[in-house]
Amino acid sequence: MKVMDEKLSVVGCGYLGVTHAACMSSLGYRVVGVDTDPVKIAELQSGKLPFYEPGLDTLLAQEMKSGRLSFTTDVLAVTDADVHFICVGTPQSKDGLAADLTYVKSALAAISPFLKKGSLVVGKSTVPVGTAQSLREELAKTAPHADLAWNPEFLREGFAVEDTLTPNRLVVGVANDLAEDILKKVYKPILDLGTPWIRADLPTSELVKVAANSFLATKISFINAMAEVCEAAGGDVTVLAKAIGYDPRIGNKFLQAGIGFGGGCLPKDIRAFMARAEELGAKQALEFLREIDAINLRARLRVIDVVRSELSDDLSQYKIAVLGATFKPDSDDVRDSPALDIAAQLNAAGAQVVVTDPQGIEPARKRFPNLEYALNVNDALKDANLVLHLTEWKEYRQIDPAAISSLVKNKIIIDGRNMLDRDLWRKAGWKFRALGRTD
Ligand code: UDX
Repeated sequence: MKVMDEKLSVVGCGYLGVTHAACMSSLGYRVVGVDTDPVKIAELQSGKLPFYEPGLDTLLAQEMKSGRLSFTTDVLAVTDADVHFICVGTPQSKDGLAADLTYVKSALAAISPFLKKGSLVVGKSTVPVGTAQSLREELAKTAPHADLAWNPEFLREGFAVEDTLTPNRLVVGVANDLAEDILKKVYKPILDLGTPWIRADLPTSELVKVAANSFLATKISFINAMAEVCEAAGGDVTVLAKAIGYDPRIGNKFLQAGIGFGGGCLPKDIRAFMARAEELGAKQALEFLREIDAINLRARLRVIDVVRSELSDDLSQYKIAVLGATFKPDSDDVRDSPALDIAAQLNAAGAQVVVTDPQGIEPARKRFPNLEYALNVNDALKDANLVLHLTEWKEYRQIDPAAISSLVKNKIIIDGRNMLDRDLWRKAGWKFRALGRTD
């Protein structure tokens, strides 16, 4: 493989940073990943991925072996690099809806003294609109020989490598042609695949990301609102979603009704967007996102209502098996996971809750040490009065309901993701309930 001339640094080695670093290295760049967490860096240095992401473990090992990719806690290592990607987290702040920008600001401050002439800092973190401009002004004071651009990231967990190497578009926020040229050069191998390139100003590039996530969140809450109406009217939301999805203007993606969205992005991004709009005097424009958030959180309560209607208001005598802890399948991420939130609420209501998950047990245990965990489905189901399907892992769709019938006390399953084969479960004698379906 041709080794590229430009050297890259990636600051922040979390989900986004490690994926970006490994993928850019696979394109032929020499990449150094920097993070302040020595434990994370030690793991990465030994070629081990600190989280679960299909395909990324092998890519990481391969790129480490190639000698192009390295990781360090020493910020001095960025000195050599021509382009610096900032990939640190922007979590929801502890005291409100807004995003916490501490890590972005400190990352920029940390690398500023080491930026060489003509180098470009490229923010990839999701930030409130206006951040890039103010960081650029800051950089003009501390390192006037460097520039700053923004390049939002749209990768989905579970598809991180694919979304990075073959994204459906590349969006860059730049203040001048030079910054665009540098980014075009860096992304040439991806652009050569025919990937659409969108040049925007700095604020628009920041907005693209939060607008995209708001739209996705809106689609999910829309279908979950339809689920509520279907329940009230005796309809079936899965049939409704299929029917409206055939209209290409609507599309059939992101219309899976169930317990709603979670994870490290959608919930916090819509909240931070509302907070920022309010600061900008555009609060009213995003009022609808408050409702999107409320519908989403209500889906979690609705599933608990179904549990109570099947068992009793008093759950203290019942054992509930929960299939799924992560916020989505093919991930070990339990941040704001609807599945775990529901499990914890049922536990708080007095039920004995046993959670299982193919990848998420350890991260879940860290967050909710009081819940019970089982390493496999059979152990989780043992003597359960009710089974909840809350994360749509493929292995759960492959469960043979007849084969597990003898494990449980009561054959009742609630499909919180509308993904299981209702007829199959019913044929095996199970009582099958789902959100948004009255039958
Ligand atoms: C999201 C965006 O998709 C991605 O572009 C952005 O870069 C980061 O945020 P991700 O958080 O990985 O990605 O998850 P996503 O696949 O969008 O799913 C988010 C949540 O919505 C999950 O909890 C999922 O279970 C839920 N969901 C998704 C539904 O409830 N119904 C659907 O139809 C689709």
